[in-house]
Parts: sequence; structure tokens; C-alpha cells
Amino acid sequence: MREVVGNLPVFTKLTPNTTDILLPAEAAMAGGADAVALINTVNSIIGVDLDAMAPNPVLDGKGTHGGYCGSAVKPIALHMVAEIARNGATKDLDISAIGGITNWRDAAEFIALGANALQVCTAAMLYGFRIVEDMNDGLSDFMDAKGYKTIADFCGLAIKNTVNWNDLNMNYDLKAKIDQDKCIECGRCHIACEDTSHQAITIQANEKGGRDFTVVDAECVGCNLCLHVCPVPDCITMEPQENGLPYMTWPEHPKNVQKVAE
Ligand SMILES: Cc1cc2nc3c(=O)[nH]c(=O)nc-3n(C[C@H](O)[C@H](O)[C@H](O)COP(=O)(O)O)c2cc1C
Ligand code: SF4
Ligand code: SF4
Repeated sequence: MREVVGNLPVFTKLTPNTTDILLPAEAAMAGGADAVALINTVNSIIGVDLDAMAPNPVLDGKGTHGGYCGSAVKPIALHMVAEIARNGATKDLDISAIGGITNWRDAAEFIALGANALQVCTAAMLYGFRIVEDMNDGLSDFMDAKGYKTIADFCGLAIKNTVNWNDLNMNYDLKAKIDQDKCIECGRCHIACEDTSHQAITIQANEKGGRDFTVVDAECVGCNLCLHVCPVPDCITMEPQENGLPYMTWPEHPKNVQKVAE
């Protein structure tokens, strides 16, 4: 490749339509790339025209897959950028991050996970190039507030805290707590927990003729679901429980049958 491009920097653009993003990233590195740029769009069918019985958009009776992009793909892009940034073989590659970057916070999140360049496609299509000036202003305010003088001061700071699931602290205990003064008694938390989580929120009639929704600590597994469905800001909070137990990963945990078998 170098014989063809000379000293020009080479960014290899990576598709997310793969199971393990490290394989193409390592291949790009082996091929002499200076940087990787990711992600491209995610293969998708956005919907089906039920009259034409063909995927949208319908072209002369037929449709095909398209490329999903914008805010919806940001979580996929963040994950893939983080995988490359924390992988021993690829951690020194420069990363130009793309995927749903729409505001300064999106930009800061990608930088925190190790991106040292950013690209914006869908947001520029929706709002024009001026959106980048808004991102610059927001990033600048964020950096002032945190005392970061340059992008390099916070680039990659979140990498060391991005771990495999089994390296999380299995003894970390969170319980949901409902602020009765903020609760509007809509019942969404109860339905969510009752039907799809751990049946940990009770309903009781109160003396004001209303209903109290209360978390049963012994049943709550700290899944966060009730917090996400509650329509009232800060009405449900997740409270860390002091249990005195040490940091314990899954490989160390006594409930891990593989450990027991050792
Ligand atoms: C209409 C459209 C056309 C695109 N064309 C290309 C292309 O020709 N080559 C390419 O590498 N990526 C192409 N992309 C992908 C974008 O460069 C980008 O990787 C992707 O859209 C994710 O970023 P975004 O969420 O900011 O849009 C295209 C995206 C869109 C929406
Ligand atoms: S955190 Fe999960 S388990 Fe606990 S009360 Fe909320 S929905 Fe139920
Ligand atoms: S979802 Fe929120 S507001 Fe609704 S009942 Fe539960 S705690 Fe109250």
C-alpha cells in the first residue's frame, strides 16, 4: 500500500456489519493503515410497504437493504471504538470515530473512549455544517468546566474503565428507591417490574385515597428498568448499598460453576 500512496496518511474505513470489529481493525493495521475510521452504516431494512409488499423505499416494485445511521447507531459505534482502543494489538491505532455524532456530548464521549478525530455525516445532512460550530462551543465549555486545556487531556480517559462484563464487581449492590413526594402514581414502574423484571414494586392504598408504590429491597436486583420507564425526572433513583463485600469479578465468584469445578 505504501508504494502506492507514498507518505499520504491512510485511514481504513471499517464496516460494523461484522461480529468482531477487532479482526478488520487488526487487518488494517497489518496492511499499514495509519488510522481506522468507523463506523460505516449498519445494514438494515427500515420498514415494509404493506400495500406493495416490498421493503421501503419501493423502487419499481422492489426494495433492498439500506444503511442505518445517525443517533440510533451511536451505541454501536461507541462500543466498536472502545473495543479497538482497549485491545492490546490495536490500541495505538489512531481512530476517526463516526456514528450518530450530533452534539458536543456525543463528540466528548467518543473522545473519552479514545477517538482522536471525529466525523459527522447524518447530523450535517439534517442541520448543515453549522452544527459543528455548536459542537465546538459545547466541547469548549465542557473542557473549561473540567479544566482540560487540550483534547489530549481527556482523550481515552474512559478506556481504563471500560471492561469485559465479567470483570465488573459482582458484589456491587444497587436498589431502586421511589421518592413518594415526586411520584404521580402512574403505575408504570410497577407494570415494568411486575411483568418483565423481578416483581419488586408493590402497590398499596394510602390514607389520602391514592396509591403508594414501594420497592421491596429483598426482591430488587437493581436492573434500572423502573427508572427508565418512570416519566418523572429523579423520582426513581438507584441507591448503592453498603454491604462491606470486596470487589469480586465473575471468575472469582463462588456462584461461577466453572470456578467451583476448578
Ligand atoms: C446518504 C449516505 C451516504 C453515504 N455514503 C458513504 C460512502 O459513499 N462511503 C462511505 O464510506 N460511507 C458512506 N456513508 C456512511 C457515513 O460516512 C457514516 O460512516 C455513517 O453514516 C455513520 O455516521 P453518521 O451517523 O454521522 O451518519 C454514507 C452515509 C449516508 C447517510
Ligand atoms: S431496579 Fe429492576 S428489579 Fe429493582 S424495582 Fe426497578 S425494575 Fe424492579
Ligand atoms: S413510574 Fe414513577 S411516577 Fe409512575 S408510579 Fe412509578 S415511581 Fe411513581
